[in-house]
Amino acid sequence: MSVYPAKIAKKLSEKADAAASEGAVCGRAASFICGCFAEACISVDDDAQVIANIGFATNGCGFMAASCQVLEEKLTGRELAALKGLSDDRLVAELESDLGEFPEARKQCALVAIEALRAAFGRLRKARAAEFVGDSPLVCTCFGVSEDDLLSAIKTTQASQFRDLEAATRAGRGCGACRMLIEELIETAKIRD
Ligand code: FES
Repeated sequence: MSVYPAKIAKKLSEKADAAASEGAVCGRAASFICGCFAEACISVDDDAQVIANIGFATNGCGFMAASCQVLEEKLTGRELAALKGLSDDRLVAELESDLGEFPEARKQCALVAIEALRAAFGRLRKARAAEFVGDSPLVCTCFGVSEDDLLSAIKTTQASQFRDLEAATRAGRGCGACRMLIEELIETAKIRD
């Protein structure tokens, strides 16, 4: 008999080892509470703007392993525009809809898996931005939005917060790794005005 709740134990029994796909970019996160880690490796189909593949590895408990597995299943093939910034609240709700509510002490196990996913997207954004050749730096690599695009949208829409620019340009609506840069641009524009 498993030490885990039935839905977690069932998910663990379905586990097939995921191989990282070629060209995948990986990110890691660890828990300061238990010391366990999760690593997410992602590849994105830029033309279709979808997540082509996600593979996780973890040395964590069943709650962490099952969280990784559900994220793999649910997000592979998902459109970048449907990621909506990879917020904790949305992803925890998706995990708990499959796995049941996590005990309070185990909620951090799900968050480590989510943080690893965000770390992988953060590295992917950095790599794509560094490769980009253009007149203005690329800020949102999910939707190809440059710094100049954002500055011009700030002017024309009088954007004063992230949501205004997200609505005008789509920047930040995918993995969310560019959000902090977009917020900095808005604040800098306010100081200049
Ligand atoms: S880089 Fe992914 S939403 Fe901007």
